[in-house]
Amino acid sequence: MDKLAIIGGRPLYGEIPISGAKNSALKVMAASLLSDAPLKLLNVPRLADVDMLLRLLEQHGAVSEFEGSTLTLHAKDIISTEAPYDLVRKMRASFNVLGPLLAREGKAKVSLPGGCAIGARPVDLHLKALTAMGAKIELDEGYVFAEAPDGLKGADIAFPFVSVGATEHAMLAAVRAKGTTTIENAAREPEIADLANCLNAMGANVSGAGSSTITIEGVAALNGAEHAVLPDRIETGAYIMAVAATGGELTLKGARADLLGAAWAVLEEVGIDLEELDDGLRVKRAGERCTATDIVTQPFPGFPTDLQAQFMALMTTADGVSTIKETIFENRFMHAPELGRMGAKISVDGQTATVRGVARLKGAPVMATDLRASMSLVIAGLAAEGQTMVNRVYHLDRGFERLEEKLQACGALIERIKE
Ligand code: EPZ
Repeated sequence: MDKLAIIGGRPLYGEIPISGAKNSALKVMAASLLSDAPLKLLNVPRLADVDMLLRLLEQHGAVSEFEGSTLTLHAKDIISTEAPYDLVRKMRASFNVLGPLLAREGKAKVSLPGGCAIGARPVDLHLKALTAMGAKIELDEGYVFAEAPDGLKGADIAFPFVSVGATEHAMLAAVRAKGTTTIENAAREPEIADLANCLNAMGANVSGAGSSTITIEGVAALNGAEHAVLPDRIETGAYIMAVAATGGELTLKGARADLLGAAWAVLEEVGIDLEELDDGLRVKRAGERCTATDIVTQPFPGFPTDLQAQFMALMTTADGVSTIKETIFENRFMHAPELGRMGAKISVDGQTATVRGVARLKGAPVMATDLRASMSLVIAGLAAEGQTMVNRVYHLDRGFERLEEKLQACGALIERIKE
């Protein structure tokens, strides 16, 4: 497993291009299974998770061509409606092929994704939505067996709480169901509107995406289309926290302020200067240190759980005491003890972490446990005195495109050590 060696203490100066959003790319890629015509996707990040989903889509019959960041997927014929354990277990977003396969072929057998490091992450809401649309679902031997021989039917779906994945999954199935589907308490993440835009470009009829109520008029078939994936708001936030932790000034090319939601105000509150440019953001820390503040993770537009770990890294050297409450996933503080190895003062009590800012962190060997936690260790390493060795870098490769290259170009001393 590769490692990252970081010598900390250098400010970051320069420009970082923001990649297409991983969590949007994965869902629009799944949408390619809904049509027998090619779907051309622009601004797709080259990430391990994208490659993994590509392998699954190819296994279902999609032919793919990747050129730079343009990915064309053509699922002319579906040759298999089965998504095997090995391909779904490694990445939960693979589970989202179930809806499209069911909508197009009337049947699918898809492995249950299982839990993961950050929490149990069940898929009950996904299955309830598909059942409401008339799918007959059975669980056996770790697989979901789903059938809708006469096609899916539009339904009124009211989610008991907000789920990004279940909202997307319901949309991916409802676009080709007979009749109208309404989704109440829908997730409002920007990736939901991005998926709706892609589906509409393919000829679907989705309205209200980005609000709590989404309405979908089903259509019999979808066309080919071209769609550009929106910029990654989590990558944007991560680089904002990186420069806020190290000092310096970064231009984040392609980053969009409107995608940051409540995080924007929080970042300004802790002492980060954010300036909107025509095609990006300019970012620098206003003073010598950031000031501590309290956050609670919430569905969009609230503070995103996917930036919680990176924010914690920033707060380890902020002036004052910060409390961080994680409300989305039950086990998403694994970075706290690792940051502790670098001298951070963090205590965790259930869903809340209390961070007492220290003047400086010290480099140490640390272990990445999940994608965003890994990025928090990179941020801490960039700001710390001395060398930090981040082990298990494969997590980062799942979600941050060309991480070392982007940081090196801005003066960071960061190097991958291949094993
Ligand atoms: C998406 O996961 C993202 N993943 C996550 O990003 C992100 O943290 C999360 O949304 C929240 O923003 C992708 O888009 C691929 P949820 P998702 O369904 O869709 C519970 C990253 O680092 N729940 O909104 O799986 C669930 O356990 C990843 O890029 C059920 O109980 O998240 C969680 O507690 C990590 N039953 C909560 O809802 C269900 O059927 C919200 O999860 C579905 C979810």
